[in-house]
Amino acid sequence: MRTSLNGFAVGLMVALCSSAAAWADSVPLPQLVTHQSHHALMVDGAPFLILGAQAHNSSNWPAQLPLVWPAIARLEANTLEIPVAWEQIEPEEGRFDFSYADLLLQQARQHKVRLILLWFGTWKNNSPSYTPAWVKLDNARFPRVINAQGVTMPSLSPLFPETLKADAKAFAALMRHIKAADPQHTVILVQVENETGTYGSVRDYSGTAEKMFAGQVPAALCKARGVKSGTWTEVFGKDAAEIFHAWHIARFVDAVAAAGKVELALPMYVNVALRDPLQAQDPLSYSAGGPTDNVIDVWKTGAPHIDLIAPDIYQNDSTRYQAVLKLYDRPDNALFVPETGSEYGYGRYIFSVLGRGALGFSPFGLDYSNEANDEADIPADASKRLEPFASNYHLLAPMARTWAKLAYEGDVWGSSETDERTPQTLDLGRWVATVRYDKGTFGASDWTWMKPRPVTAAGPDGGVIIARLGADEFLITGRMARIDFTPTPKTGKHAQFVRVEEGKFVDDRWVFHHVWNGDETDYGVNFTTVPRLIKVTLAPY
Ligand code: DGJ
Repeated sequence: MRTSLNGFAVGLMVALCSSAAAWADSVPLPQLVTHQSHHALMVDGAPFLILGAQAHNSSNWPAQLPLVWPAIARLEANTLEIPVAWEQIEPEEGRFDFSYADLLLQQARQHKVRLILLWFGTWKNNSPSYTPAWVKLDNARFPRVINAQGVTMPSLSPLFPETLKADAKAFAALMRHIKAADPQHTVILVQVENETGTYGSVRDYSGTAEKMFAGQVPAALCKARGVKSGTWTEVFGKDAAEIFHAWHIARFVDAVAAAGKVELALPMYVNVALRDPLQAQDPLSYSAGGPTDNVIDVWKTGAPHIDLIAPDIYQNDSTRYQAVLKLYDRPDNALFVPETGSEYGYGRYIFSVLGRGALGFSPFGLDYSNEANDEADIPADASKRLEPFASNYHLLAPMARTWAKLAYEGDVWGSSETDERTPQTLDLGRWVATVRYDKGTFGASDWTWMKPRPVTAAGPDGGVIIARLGADEFLITGRMARIDFTPTPKTGKHAQFVRVEEGKFVDDRWVFHHVWNGDETDYGVNFTTVPRLIKVTLAPY
């Protein structure tokens, strides 16, 4: 009996292993690809659009997960970003516990949601709060940053090999486990550390740091910057301290990512606690050494195993928001917004993010765990907070794969309502699209005697996205916005709609519903809160 049970167990193991092997053979590893400055996250072999949500900072425990999934379902998000903390996978040095990771994988699959794992290790918003107690409490082995006045700061210093060794070992163990437990690639992306950098000191001023700072700038960094070699101060002058810190944090994070990629080469990114995108700021007033816009190039050179640098945008003023997008949307950096505010006004920005061909968008703190940075954010009906994002995801979810492919292979544009509600123009090649946010659905745009449409009670929330289907044909959707078209260059001609079709995509195939005409096209094409997708064909007359 015993023998046959063992035989059965062995048979089962063989079956499980071979089915895992079959998965591994059949499902390609997620990958970041770039072609002519367009980027895509390939998932299951095709471009994927992340309609994401990030869980709260303490939602990474089995008992919290039931408060996460219903919010993800309500949002129609296709991806959950959630922490995996060093303290929970290696509570004692060398003893690993992946029970939370296994449960997370299993439940994500049940809910048909992909995962972005957030590795909360040496840095979580500058501090080591998510490191295990054996790390937090041993500052002789894992030293903290010492500021210029000799005061010990919360941040761990990036300069000490023991810290790097321990972090990289834990992260590699996690990735090794994910490789074995996730052959179907439920996990599509991994964030390495969280908002690195140091508050309250521009670099480490410990004895070890002082010696290194007096030394030569690494040749790779001088070469990348096109500068002659020298000491940090000789080469970088007044910016030397910040660049020194950024370089060493980048090298540390790169080594952690590299150790993880040896086990499982998933795409990996870092997120950024931003500085003001419009005016210079004292580095003592932000998380110095993190990949802020002034040191993106330092990070690019120092961390080649990091696939992209992603801004966490909590600046709900439309000028600043757009400025940040511009800074992180680069031919050498795929744009992805892994965190943004969850207040009402942030919903509109998904349109300009996607219009830049971004990999995706993911507001922070959208679960039902009743955590909130501001108590006013916990309404009696928690799902109300989700509404602005849910309605946009409802609009975009059915076309997410199609959009991701169009954005990777061709031209896309986007516009979000600004605080001032100013009209915006998009250059579509042979056409200019003018997007207006203050028009109702009826009445020509130049009928100035008509009253502007009032701002939605909770604030500006409009936006549109446009993808090219041909020189004169476009796929368009949006919310609380109107688009008028004019031919370009200016020849005195006007635009006419040859046809405006409403429809939807089913499995990447256009399914016609009906034609818009008359009142529906006499005043441009208008979008309200009702989700609608149109194909527009234009011609001059
Ligand atoms: C940015 C961090 O990356 C998140 O983990 C979270 O702390 C938010 N700030 C704000 O709540």
